[in-house]
Amino acid sequence: MDIFEKCWNFTQAEEARKAGYYPYFTPIQSQQDTEVVLNGRRIIMIGSNNYLGLTTHPKVKEAAMQALKKFGTSCTGSRFLNGTIELHVQLEERLAQFTGKEAALVFSTGFQTNLGTISALVGRHDTVIIDYDDHASIVDGCQLCFGKTVRFKHNDMDSLRKALESTNPRSGKLVVVDGVFSMEGDIAPLPEIVSICKEFNARLMVDDAHAIGVLGERGNGTASYFGLTEEVDIIMGTFSKSFASLGGFIAAKAQVIDYIKHFSRALIFSASMPPASIAACLASLDIMENEPERRERLWEITRKMHREFRNLGFDIGNTQTPIIPIIIGDDMKVFQFWKRLLEEGVFVNPVRNPAVPVGRALLRTSYMATHTDEQLERVLETFEKVGKELGVI
Ligand SMILES: Cc1ncc(COP(=O)(O)O)c(C=O)c1O
Repeated sequence: MDIFEKCWNFTQAEEARKAGYYPYFTPIQSQQDTEVVLNGRRIIMIGSNNYLGLTTHPKVKEAAMQALKKFGTSCTGSRFLNGTIELHVQLEERLAQFTGKEAALVFSTGFQTNLGTISALVGRHDTVIIDYDDHASIVDGCQLCFGKTVRFKHNDMDSLRKALESTNPRSGKLVVVDGVFSMEGDIAPLPEIVSICKEFNARLMVDDAHAIGVLGERGNGTASYFGLTEEVDIIMGTFSKSFASLGGFIAAKAQVIDYIKHFSRALIFSASMPPASIAACLASLDIMENEPERRERLWEITRKMHREFRNLGFDIGNTQTPIIPIIIGDDMKVFQFWKRLLEEGVFVNPVRNPAVPVGRALLRTSYMATHTDEQLERVLETFEKVGKELGVI
């Protein structure tokens, strides 16, 4: 059989393109901001992870340009060998301080951070226990490791307990959850998770991709939000969201970080974050620490949008954060809704299975501290118009 047989038989994307319902890989012709240019038109962006709006911040851009001038375009190698520059070390020290942990380690993407951490830690006799709604990079990290993987129902503490009961009491155990779930914006109940982990002598890792910059007293994530910084063993984050850059990190006890540094293949066998990306992170961290008003504005917007969407009659699930899903259920209706919003000048992300359970297709909307009231009013008016037109509300 030809290995390409599956490619010849894959026609769904082409059919969707022909029907005008293909939403993926659309090139944006401007910088990522509250409005972007797409096919020559300015439209409002409510489909990014740019929570603090720092991608266009003059200090972040300037820091990236200065690093590019001083250190060049690339590190051309792994952190392990020639690819560590002083900026990586500075960033790790700052992140350890920011998250309240002894040490931190930066990887080239958030995806690699999960792959490289889980596969390094979970050995042949260990078990990794994950929430069904955890991010794909966590699931793939589990597939890459030699240990056993057990999944529990989303945010269901009885199911977590049963999962832990099913493990060999002598095996090492790592529970991994998203702090803020990426599609529906709900928060993991860390106080309960921490106490169950303690009961079963399991370690806890929290993926804070969508929580850093958003939750916690200083934007330092879910553990801090619940006052559980000590109890969460590994805090993971990405730089592709609030940090307005690219890369990822973990923060933990120094000896845990030192072990992962020497056993993580995703770290050792891949080139390090480029200078401009590290400098952008450092500048974003300065802003996160010194401009709490950005986070306050983000929460003001979040509360307003939760309230207004509910008032209009939309189902926004259990969101507690700036990720606001508009749950529609039917795949085709989601694509119709997405297309009409785009025609009316609003960019959102249509989401269907496998990213969400079958029958729970949704429009993922997310907000930035820099959205203006006027932009948000336009978004709400457009949702009301299209929602009524398609019989969703
Ligand atoms: C929860 C979560 N973890 C990890 C990642 C991977 O991060 P990155 O895009 O920086 O590779 C993402 C990004 O989509 C995410 O949403």
